[in-house]
Amino acid sequence: MSTDHTPVEALTDREAAKELLRLAGLIKHHDQLYYARSAPEIEDAAYDALRLRNLAIEARFPSLKRADSPSDRVGAAPADGFAKVRHSRPMLSLGNAFDADDVEEFLARVRRFLGLAETEDIAVIAEPKIDGLSLALRYEDGRLVQAATRGDGAEGEDITANALTLKDIPARIAGAPPVLEVRGEVYMSHSAFARLNERRATADQPLYVNPRNAASGSLRQLDTRITAERELGFFAYSLGEVSAPIAETHSGLLAQLGEWGLPINPLSRVCGSLDELLATYADFLQQRASLDYDIDGVVYKVDRTDWQERLGQVSRAPRWAIAHKFPAEQAETILEQIDIQVGRTGALTPVARLAPVFVGGVTVTNATLHNEDEIARKDVRVGDTVVIQRAGDVIPQVVRAVLEKRPADSQPYAFPHRCPVCDSEAVRPEGEVIRRCTGGLICSAQAVERLKHFVSRNAFDIEGMGTKRIEELWADEIVRSPADIFRLKDRRADLVQRERWGSQSVVNLLAAIEDRRTWPLERFIFALGIRQIGQATAKLLARAYGSLDGLIEAVTAARDSESEAYADLINIDQMGKDVAADLIAFFAEAHNREVVADLAQFLTLEAPEAVQQSPVSGKTVVFTGTLERMTRAEAKARAESLGAKVAGSVSKKTDYVVAGADAGSKAKKAADLGLAILTEDEWLAKIGQEA
Ligand code: IVH
Repeated sequence: MSTDHTPVEALTDREAAKELLRLAGLIKHHDQLYYARSAPEIEDAAYDALRLRNLAIEARFPSLKRADSPSDRVGAAPADGFAKVRHSRPMLSLGNAFDADDVEEFLARVRRFLGLAETEDIAVIAEPKIDGLSLALRYEDGRLVQAATRGDGAEGEDITANALTLKDIPARIAGAPPVLEVRGEVYMSHSAFARLNERRATADQPLYVNPRNAASGSLRQLDTRITAERELGFFAYSLGEVSAPIAETHSGLLAQLGEWGLPINPLSRVCGSLDELLATYADFLQQRASLDYDIDGVVYKVDRTDWQERLGQVSRAPRWAIAHKFPAEQAETILEQIDIQVGRTGALTPVARLAPVFVGGVTVTNATLHNEDEIARKDVRVGDTVVIQRAGDVIPQVVRAVLEKRPADSQPYAFPHRCPVCDSEAVRPEGEVIRRCTGGLICSAQAVERLKHFVSRNAFDIEGMGTKRIEELWADEIVRSPADIFRLKDRRADLVQRERWGSQSVVNLLAAIEDRRTWPLERFIFALGIRQIGQATAKLLARAYGSLDGLIEAVTAARDSESEAYADLINIDQMGKDVAADLIAFFAEAHNREVVADLAQFLTLEAPEAVQQSPVSGKTVVFTGTLERMTRAEAKARAESLGAKVAGSVSKKTDYVVAGADAGSKAKKAADLGLAILTEDEWLAKIGQEA
């Protein structure tokens, strides 16, 4: 039955949910036409009516408000409007520090890594963390040739024409090296934001919720004239690729960028101690309210560029920088309901459904309650007024219940001991905080979540295989395991018969699936959804073992914790015993091995390229004794970035043993095995790092 014209007051829960779904899709469609293509299909009044109806339904059924609700969004990101650009060097993100101890630990880590004495001062620059969008500007022979958004860090969008409309971005730089890539943040000032929303209100256009969204929407406009009207600002704060070094310090770099006419933030300050950094943090926090742009923390960066280079990066964040976040913003609202979600590993996660509240720049309707103990500890109850906190992009959290406002008849929350989806018992082993559904394969929630993970963007990235379709195919027993997805091509006739599946969409889906039959090994490993094996770890495993068979063989051999295979496994960067245990347990399960083998027959998995082709790519090296020119951590990181594998113990598989001063038993064992033993200098010469 159609619900399009049912008055809001007459809608049932089910109809309301359906209607919100329809409106979200429809409004998105019209937004695309309006913002991205500037070609609206309907009158403004008709568009407003859709939005108003959506708002009215949300007001009557707050718990049904969708995560992708149009009320939280203004304007649309054009889907395919811009050309993709691969970044010359990845655009990194930053690790976070939340308190003084974290900052102290950051400095200690830097000291340890560089092998500096406790007493040696480290100059660190403190810069405001601008709450905008990062942008990479590439100048060749002094001319701006490309501006790219961050995207996923590896690949962004080419928005050169738009960037050129910003007053803060010079089109030419005199005296720049042949290649100069400047990175920084685009933002919208509070005053520009207020002016923009005033104009929109007068024109009866939906308002932007915060300056950050406005900046993002303004920069990613296909019509450059719109960007030009939007008064965006830019602060430069780092480099990408450059053909020649620019300065010996980060502060020197900023000064040079300033001289070239790029805006640099005037608040940045070089500090010599932890106390000075913390004082600067307090100072920025105090100035925050009076600045005309949003900042959400302070970024600390080791000032010396040579040290930055030595420190390098781990996963996708530099070791030489960290973001010290400002405290989260808080607000009060009503906790209307607690829902239990069942994750792909069976974990039961409580989610708070809230009366909509504006906090930290967005409207929040859901927040995490973490787990059973958290609810009990905070004694949070349905009906309570609760304090919600939101910081940066972190999922909003319920901080506490406001006891003075608790309804007289409220009851403590009883966490379910059965799975809300399959009704299997949900158990919580001694010492663990998470209660898990024991339904395993019979629990549809777990199965569906695993499949959703499998097709998700960072895993197999299969377009057209959304949540709805997976749920449908699972319920009809067409797709029960990942391999079934690759068998869908034999069921084309069945699929086109399905309601709402249209033959073109089936053709597209099957093509998208076929397209994934050759796929990177690391994404395959990640797609398996093994507990604790995230993208970074999957990548390390792919690099270390090179093939699926190699991985399975090694992990199987590693079941024996005395084995060399086990030692190698836990020696992989960042792979603790804990993570190794989950990996081993996964492949120890016969059913999992069957699922993997069933799937693998459809696929050609590509081994990762070594990080960098170097004389030591693919070689196994062992460091032993005291190194003089670098710390152990630095030596390991450097070797790994050159594609070598660093092992903790000497074996037949070792290619090089690098022996520092007082090398003991390992050097002896290497000699016994007749392996190549190098001095530290010989090793540096081999990797092209002569003194
Ligand atoms: S440095 C390798 N400096 O914060 C250096 N980032 O959380 C990477 N940001 O993606 C960035 N102000 O968009 C740096 N002064 C600043 C910054 C800053 C804002 C943003 C940037 C980055 C994100 C990381």
